[in-house]
Amino acid sequence: MAIMELPPATPPFSAFPRANFLPSCGFRPAMQHCVYPGTFDPITYGHLDVLERAAKLFARVTVAVADNPDKGPLFTTAQRLEMLRPNLAKFPNVTVTPFSGLLIDFCVEHKIDAIIRGLRALSDFEFEFNMALMNRHLKPEVETIFVMPNEQFSYTSSSLVKQVAKYCGDVSHFVPPNVATALKKAYGCTG
Ligand code: COA
Repeated sequence: MAIMELPPATPPFSAFPRANFLPSCGFRPAMQHCVYPGTFDPITYGHLDVLERAAKLFARVTVAVADNPDKGPLFTTAQRLEMLRPNLAKFPNVTVTPFSGLLIDFCVEHKIDAIIRGLRALSDFEFEFNMALMNRHLKPEVETIFVMPNEQFSYTSSSLVKQVAKYCGDVSHFVPPNVATALKKAYGCTG
């Protein structure tokens, strides 16, 4: 029986997606730039897990820190940005910026192709689904892409971390050291 051989992969396409981002090969995928939006009050290892996945998928990632006064954040936007920065240093293609107003307007202004959101558990789905559809209604060209963080972070949230920290509990499994220190300071915990 004759076996039909697939034609060899011809440049500029590569079997290895990261190679498609090489400036030398000339090929650019349709989607280059994504935004990872959130309140990040504060950033957790769960957020960083999502971010690491986004940084592998996209040439450029913008972490957009929402002002979100309605959520009554513990940390100011400036403090949340300051806490994020040292934790982003290992990602050369990631930058961080504050934003207010509609996320979709931010996407248009910054020429963003896709919104990255993390899905930790089924309970996230309904909220995320509605938000993705609303954003699609507002600007169909901007795609929402969901990624699953490692299951060890499926129950992590900024609120739960803050609850534990408020009573001076150990949050070092959930947040980077600089965030743990900031939480201790915010709640007046010593040691
Ligand atoms: N690891 C740990 N926690 C995670 C997580 C992960 N991978 N993914 C989500 N969370 C947690 C967060 O810690 C947060 O916990 P909290 O509610 O206890 O603080 C919760 O899940 C939701 O946070 P997040 O994913 O950051 O969303 P958000 O609700 O803080 O922010 C915005 C949502 C800012 C993206 C959205 O409100 C927005 O786009 N606002 C702009 C206005 C706008 O455009 N509105 C219309 C939208 S259709």
